[in-house]
Amino acid sequence: MSATTEPGIPRLRVLLVEDDPDDVLLCRDAIAHSNLNCHLAVTGTLLEAAECLDREGADVALVDLSLPDAEQLEAVTILAQRFTDLPIVVLTGLLDEQTAARALHAGAEDYLVKGPGSRDSIGRAVHYAIERKRGEQTRRAKDAAEAAKTRAERSARELERNYRQLFDCSPYPMYVLDTDTFAFLEINDAAAAFYGYPRHSLLGQDVTRLCLAEDVAVLTDAIATAATAQRWGPLRQVKHDGTVVEVTVTSHMLSFDGRDARCMVIEDITERERLERRLRQSQRLESLGQLAGGVAHDFNNLLGIILGYATMCAQEVEESAQTDPRWQALRDDLSQILQAGDRAANLTRQLLSFARAEIAQTQVIDLNTIVTGVDQLLRRTVDEGIRMNIDLTGNPWLVKADPGQIEQVLLNLVVNARDAMPTGGVLTIATDPITIDEHAAANHSDTRPGRYMRLRVTDTGTGMSQATIDRAFEPFFTTKPKGHGTGLGLATIYGIVTQAGGHIHINSQPGVGTTITALFPATHETADNAEPQAPEQTDTTHQARYHETILLAEDEDSLRLLTERILTRHGYTVIAAGNGVEATEAAQQHPGGIDLLLTDVVMPHLNGHDLAIRLHATHPGLPVIYMSGYAEPLLAARTTLPAGVTLLSKPIVEQHILAAIRRALDAHNRHATGHVDTPPNVENRNQPSPSELSRP
Ligand SMILES: Nc1ncnc2c1ncn2[C@@H]1O[C@H](COP(=O)(O)OP(=O)(O)OP(=O)(O)O)[C@@H](O)[C@H]1O
Ligand SMILES: [Mg+2]
Repeated sequence: MSATTEPGIPRLRVLLVEDDPDDVLLCRDAIAHSNLNCHLAVTGTLLEAAECLDREGADVALVDLSLPDAEQLEAVTILAQRFTDLPIVVLTGLLDEQTAARALHAGAEDYLVKGPGSRDSIGRAVHYAIERKRGEQTRRAKDAAEAAKTRAERSARELERNYRQLFDCSPYPMYVLDTDTFAFLEINDAAAAFYGYPRHSLLGQDVTRLCLAEDVAVLTDAIATAATAQRWGPLRQVKHDGTVVEVTVTSHMLSFDGRDARCMVIEDITERERLERRLRQSQRLESLGQLAGGVAHDFNNLLGIILGYATMCAQEVEESAQTDPRWQALRDDLSQILQAGDRAANLTRQLLSFARAEIAQTQVIDLNTIVTGVDQLLRRTVDEGIRMNIDLTGNPWLVKADPGQIEQVLLNLVVNARDAMPTGGVLTIATDPITIDEHAAANHSDTRPGRYMRLRVTDTGTGMSQATIDRAFEPFFTTKPKGHGTGLGLATIYGIVTQAGGHIHINSQPGVGTTITALFPATHETADNAEPQAPEQTDTTHQARYHETILLAEDEDSLRLLTERILTRHGYTVIAAGNGVEATEAAQQHPGGIDLLLTDVVMPHLNGHDLAIRLHATHPGLPVIYMSGYAEPLLAARTTLPAGVTLLSKPIVEQHILAAIRRALDAHNRHATGHVDTPPNVENRNQPSPSELSRP
C-alpha cells in the first residue's frame, strides 16, 4: 500500500502503518473525530513505513502489530531503533496487558486498541506519545550535556596534568616569570637542579638574582619589550655554587593564574661557547703564526747581514781603539748597534718560536729531569713572598722535545706567575702522566686522544679575565705597563708546545689564580742518555787563519757576500755560487781540491741536499754543512735532509759558522788520518735515529 496524503495544512505529521483497509478507515475516522490537527500518511508495510519516514519524517507513528512484512512487535522494535526520536503508538485489536507491556518495552510510547473506543482516545494517545518522547529527549539531552561536561572537565584536568608533567619532566630547565615583577611563578625540577637551588627557595624570588650583574639589564629589557615568542642569548647566569654559565633563553608569553607571564626555556651553551671560543682562538693564532713567522724569517736574514757586517766592523775597529782613543767612540757606537741587533734577533727568535718555525733540537727527554735541572734558577727568579712547590710524578713518561725550549717554557710560566703574585702566594709546578681518551678529546676542540705528560704551573695570583684568556697567546698581547712585558712569553710557549705536538690550556679566575697546563705527547722511544758533548776547542777568533777551500752555495746575494767575507777574513778560500747548478759547475772547473760544502738548503733549480749528492760523486766524503732559516717541519715539506747532518739556523752568526766549519773539517781530517769519528754522511737516508739538528 502506498502512502496517501490528506488535503489541508496539517500541523502534526502522523504516519499510520496499517495493512487492513477497514482498520485504516477506522483510524481515519477516529482521527477525523479527534481534536488532532494533522496530516496523515498511511503505509501498509514496515518497508514502506521506513521509506516514508526516511523521505518525509513524521511527528508520530501509529503502528499496527500485524503487518505482512513484520511479526508482532518486530515493526515497533525496528522503527524505534532506526528512528529514535519518533514517538510510536501501537495499534492492536486486543487489549492484552502483556502485549502492551512488551510494546512499551520494544520502544512504543503508548498502546491503543482499535475499534470505536479509539475515537475518543486516539488524540490523547498521540499527544501523550509526543510529549513523552519530548520529555525523554529532553532528559536524554540533559544527561548527554552533563556527561559531556564531566568528560570535558576530566579531560581538562588530564590535559593540565600532562602539561604539568611535560613542564616538570622536561630535561631543559624551565620557569614561568611574572612579567611585571620578574618573580618566579613556577620552576621545574631541571631548573632547580641546574641552578642548584631548592625549588621553593626560588619561587616568588626575582629572576635577576640568577644573572651576572652586567647582564641584568639585558634580561629585564628583553622580558619587558620582547614580542610574543623570543630567543635571547648568550646570557651569563650564576649558579648557587657561584659557577657562571652561558645560556640562551627561549621564551613565550602566557597567562598564568590570571597574571601576564613568560615561560622561559633555558639552554646551557657554556660548553659549546667554550669550544667555539677555543676554535676561534686557535684559528686566530694559526694565522697570526703565519704572519709572524713570515716577517720574522725575512727579518732574520736582514738582521744576519746587519749583525754580520757590524761584527766585522767592530773587530776591525777594536784593534785601532786599543791604541787610538779616537776610535773608541766608534767602537762604542758599533757596540750599541750589536746590542740592539742582538735584542732584535732575540725578538725574531721568539716570533719564530710562536710560529713553530724555530729550529728545535728535539730529544727524548724526561720532563722531571728538566724541571729539576732548572729548579734553582726558578727559585731565584721568584720573590721571597712566594712559596714554590714542585710536585713531580714518580712515573714519568718520556717525551720528545727540545730541552732548552722546555726550560724556556718553565721560565716564562714562572715569571708570569711571579708577576701575578706581587704580594706573595703559592706557585706549584707539577708533572703527571695522563691519557686523553676519545671522549675527553671530543670535549677539547683541538686536543687529540693519546698519552701525554702533563706539566702544570699553578699560582694563587690575580688570575685573568675571560677577555685576557682569549688573547693571552697572541704575540705582543700584554696587560703589563709599558716596558714591563713584551707579550711574547705565552706566545713563545704556545709555539714551543704545539711544535712538540702538544696542547696548552689556560684555567684562570680573577682573584683566585691561574693554572697553565701543557700536554706533551708521550713517546715510546728510549731516552737519549748521551751526555751533551763538550764543544771541541777550536780557535775561531778572527786572529786564527785557515787555508781550506770552501764551496759556498747561497741564493740570497747579500747573505752570500757576507758569508764569503767572514770566511775569507779567516783565511779560507771561498768558491761562491748563487745556486746548486752554479755550485756544481764551479766545483768541476776549480783546479784545486774542495774541503767543505757550505750550502743553503732551500734554493731554486737544485736544492742543497741534491747538490751534496752530486758533489759526493766526484768528491767522496766531502763534509757538508747546511744553513737554513726554516724549522725542521717546514724544511721537511720542501726538501728532505738525512739524519745526522749539521744544520745551522739563520741568522748566521760569525762565531757559530766558524766553529761549525772548524769542527767538521777537524773531524774529517781525523778520520782521514785514522781517527774513528764518523764524518757527516749525507747519503745515509735510512739511519733510524732522529735528525740531529745542530745549533751551535
Ligand atoms: N699567571 C698569570 N696570572 C695572571 N695573568 C697572566 C698570567 N700569565 C699571563 N697572564 C696574562 O697574560 C698576558 C700575556 O702574558 P705573556 O707572558 O705572553 O706576556 P707578558 O708576561 O705580559 O710579557 P712578557 O712575558 O713578554 O714579558 C699577561 O700580560 C697577563 O695579563
Ligand atoms: Mg710573560
